[in-house]
Amino acid sequence: MSKLRKKFLELLLCVLIIFTCVVVYGEAQSKSFLVDCGSNTSTKADGRIWVGDSSPNNSLTLSSVGFDAIASTTSIKSSVLSEIYKSARVFETTLNYTFDGIAQGSCFVRLHFSPFAIENHNVNESSFSVFANGLRLMRNINIQGEIAHKNLILQSSGHNSTASSLVKEFLLPTGLEKLVLSFIPEEGSFGFVNAIEIVPVLDKIFKESVAKVGGSEVELGLKGRGIETMYRLNVGGPKLGPSQDLKLYRTWETDSSYMVIENAGVEVKNSSNITYASANDSPVAPLLVYETARTMSNTEVLEKRFNISWKFEVDPNFDYLVRLHFCELVVDKQNQRIFRIYINNQTAAGNFDIYAHAGGKNKGIYQDYFDPVSSKNDILWIQLGPDTSAGASGTDALLSGLEIFKLSKDGNLAHFIKFDPNGHSVSDSKMRIIWISVGAGIATIILFTFLVTLVVCLCKIRRNKSDDSKSNPPGWRPLFLHVNNSTANAKATGGSLRLNTLAASTMGRKFTLAEIRAATKNFDDGLAIGIGGFGKVYRGELEDGTLIAIKRATPHSQQGLAEFETEIVMLSRLRHRHLVSLIGFCDEHNEMILVYEYMANGTLRSHLFGSNLPPLSWKQRLEACIGSARGLHYLHTGSERGIIHRDVKTTNILLDENFVAKMSDFGLSKAGPSMDHTHVSTAVKGSFGYLDPEYFRRQQLTEKSDVYSFGVVLFEAVCARAVINPTLPKDQINLAEWALSWQKQRSLESIIDPNLKGNYSPESLEKYGEIAEKCLADEGKNRPMMGEVLWHLEYVLQLHEAWLRKQNGENSFSSSQALEEAPESSSLQACSNQDSSEMEKSQTGSTLHNME
Ligand SMILES: *[C@@H]1O[C@H](CO)[C@@H](O)[C@H](O)[C@H]1NC(C)=O
Ligand SMILES: *[C@@H]1O[C@H](CO)[C@@H](O)[C@H](O)[C@H]1NC(C)=O
Ligand SMILES: *[C@@H]1O[C@H](CO)[C@@H](O)[C@H](O)[C@H]1NC(C)=O
Ligand SMILES: *[C@@H]1O[C@H](CO)[C@@H](O)[C@H](O)[C@H]1NC(C)=O
Ligand SMILES: *[C@@H]1O[C@H](CO)[C@@H](O)[C@H](O)[C@H]1NC(C)=O
Ligand SMILES: *[C@@H]1O[C@H](CO)[C@@H](O)[C@H](O)[C@H]1NC(C)=O
Ligand SMILES: *[C@@H]1O[C@H](CO)[C@@H](O)[C@H](O)[C@H]1NC(C)=O
Ligand SMILES: *[C@@H]1O[C@H](CO)[C@@H](O)[C@H](O)[C@H]1NC(C)=O
Ligand SMILES: *[C@@H]1O[C@H](CO)[C@@H](O)[C@H](O)[C@H]1NC(C)=O
Repeated sequence: MSKLRKKFLELLLCVLIIFTCVVVYGEAQSKSFLVDCGSNTSTKADGRIWVGDSSPNNSLTLSSVGFDAIASTTSIKSSVLSEIYKSARVFETTLNYTFDGIAQGSCFVRLHFSPFAIENHNVNESSFSVFANGLRLMRNINIQGEIAHKNLILQSSGHNSTASSLVKEFLLPTGLEKLVLSFIPEEGSFGFVNAIEIVPVLDKIFKESVAKVGGSEVELGLKGRGIETMYRLNVGGPKLGPSQDLKLYRTWETDSSYMVIENAGVEVKNSSNITYASANDSPVAPLLVYETARTMSNTEVLEKRFNISWKFEVDPNFDYLVRLHFCELVVDKQNQRIFRIYINNQTAAGNFDIYAHAGGKNKGIYQDYFDPVSSKNDILWIQLGPDTSAGASGTDALLSGLEIFKLSKDGNLAHFIKFDPNGHSVSDSKMRIIWISVGAGIATIILFTFLVTLVVCLCKIRRNKSDDSKSNPPGWRPLFLHVNNSTANAKATGGSLRLNTLAASTMGRKFTLAEIRAATKNFDDGLAIGIGGFGKVYRGELEDGTLIAIKRATPHSQQGLAEFETEIVMLSRLRHRHLVSLIGFCDEHNEMILVYEYMANGTLRSHLFGSNLPPLSWKQRLEACIGSARGLHYLHTGSERGIIHRDVKTTNILLDENFVAKMSDFGLSKAGPSMDHTHVSTAVKGSFGYLDPEYFRRQQLTEKSDVYSFGVVLFEAVCARAVINPTLPKDQINLAEWALSWQKQRSLESIIDPNLKGNYSPESLEKYGEIAEKCLADEGKNRPMMGEVLWHLEYVLQLHEAWLRKQNGENSFSSSQALEEAPESSSLQACSNQDSSEMEKSQTGSTLHNME
């Protein structure tokens, strides 16, 4: 009996197992769809099989076929999906894709678009809408325009981006069994689609209620709403592709191009033993996202008085769900890293402690915030910053991943802005805008005319007044205007053409590569006099004996290329006695070489400390500061918009054979704010120790940022020490802070270069300290203009010269030249007690060097 029962049970078990298998198998069959549109074969791409849609079956039907288009192989940019991007389905009338048998639950729908030349159609003019079961996903969009617009945004943050395809991802409401995707071309236009991907989401990845920014919990009502993924970033880490997110095949982009200041955050990484804080969270993000993160940078020096900020273009008038992923990788206690989260400048969370939330280190968690974006906003800001109220032992922020989802409103997810093939928005309500602008236009014209007249007058006055006008070659202003135009033209065409256009008009002599090789003994390393992000600088000699400096860009350095171009554009506009001038260039064989006048005495810094050169006298230092201040003043005021140098430091101040100081290195320079703005928003670049803290905090660049850096230069020139010296006690690390604290006690003389002792007029030092202090004012508006700084420095020099005359008794008839010799040589003697032998060596060394 019992045997029989056992057999029966076994049989039952077998049947059950088979039944389950069939069910699971059957479900798996109907779950996901990977469709390679316009193709009749199956293609493997991205590790998955994509099935052509030219032979539909029960579960996939097409209402009309339109026609298949195949790209010529050469026109497709290589990507993991380039195989499936080679074909597209093109439609001139409504095309319905019907997917049958999708499991209950929500699903990701990804639409892939990768435009290529289609027979008889101008792909720039495609325009169509897409609906999913009646929910509008896109409205009359131009694919080329969308791609161009994305590239524009990325490029504006200084990133070189040339995406050629667009993937739109949607998460559609739960409870669908049949999904109809309708592609509807605009009247008289057409549309296309390269691939469709449907991935069911079996686990819940959204909660029903989430915290509202600046308010209480809200119900999302996701059952009746569609979601579009706007951004999905692996913060502080590499791009993750679908094959690294095997559950849902999502793509996680890198975050740096969305950061407002890239330097504000540093990447951290720890891939050992990372887990989800809650086991149910595994579909939310792959663990790889939690292995990398970004924290606040250089917190020692800047006291963390800043936020790490990301900003995103979004469509106004929608509700957004912001999902932030965190995983503490560094600290292993509570209360060590506490910060505030701001979304659109409102506090979304304060006193946030990842360790406490996750219950430990290396545990991934996420937080959702609901943010309704008003019609006035099209930028969504996400900022993490210090929470000073918390009283934690450490305030620093960390973020591992970030997602922004747009929630549908009234059956719509589409934005209403259309972009032309160049990526600029084409307004829908043209008429209204025309009427407004007619009204505004008249007022603007009047105002503009007035301003132009004012500017022209002011320029004239300034030009007449400026004592520097002598040193400008006649006709520099028309030159500037001319170059300005050609730059604008060249921008549109880009690349080496830009160089050529400029070259032809303004860049002076064009050297052959052979000439450059001869001048530098084939780029002999012995002749290298400097090195920078772009490449090396060599000293060279032309056939006629003229000494030159040759800056050669490292091939393939993207960063270098951009800075190089800026330098060319800037320098060809500018001619001034206190700016290093460009003699010519060479662009043969893909080389980017610039030829400058040779500055025999190198950088100002090398004469202050760190090398064995004889110390400069107080007068020489003042003259160097005055020279560079003149150069900067000219940069700020010499052209209509002014130019901000952005990298003022003692290594960018060069001295010629007569110790005349000139500003160099315009690789980071930016045109100043235009008339309707008071600042330029830009990623923070520059050198630590010289960086304007306000610029760092507010990301707004003004001329006052240069003034700040110049203030640091002033202190460096008098203290003769590095601006950041981590080996010193904490309060002395940062020269700007340290010197400022002494200056505030009116005792700057206690920390000045010992070489100066006794050889300067105390009154001049006092005034000098006051100017430097003003330059370092915390807020830009309290800092003087460069012109004022210059004026004060000249006064300081006068004070010192008067003192020198007094020191030299009554022989005040002889030339001032002779007078200044005396104190200088005595200053040499003063320090020769300590290291005379070393100095002698270096002097003879440099003489030899010069004679070569
Ligand atoms: C039907 O076609 C779709 C897409 O072309 C494919 O994913 C699916 O496996 C096919 N189903 C059958 C039963 O062939
Ligand atoms: C589809 O298959 C037919 C033959 O069945 C072939 O002639 C045609 O070129 C194929 N089209 C594509 C897009 O591969
Ligand atoms: C496409 O699908 C929509 C929605 O299901 C339907 O209203 C429309 O008639 C369909 N069009 C065609 C051409 O089948
Ligand atoms: C961007 O980079 C690509 C290669 O990385 C290069 O071919 C292209 O010219 C660059 N574009 C710009 C605008 O710098
Ligand atoms: C990564 O985390 C593990 C476990 O907490 C720790 O032992 C290890 O030191 C960490 N590695 C780094 C580089 O911080
Ligand atoms: C990894 O994490 C688990 C759970 O937190 C812990 O039990 C285990 O000891 C950890 N292993 C290492 C090597 O740190
Ligand atoms: C960080 O950003 C928020 C919101 O924009 C702002 O209120 C706050 O002052 C900022 N904090 C710092 C230190 O700049
Ligand atoms: C939010 O703050 C940033 C700077 O922190 C500012 O540029 C932006 O205009 C602010 N946005 C709003 C809506 O106030
Ligand atoms: C499409 O637009 C781009 C950008 O304006 C342009 O470079 C290209 O030549 C256009 N293509 C056609 C076929 O008109």
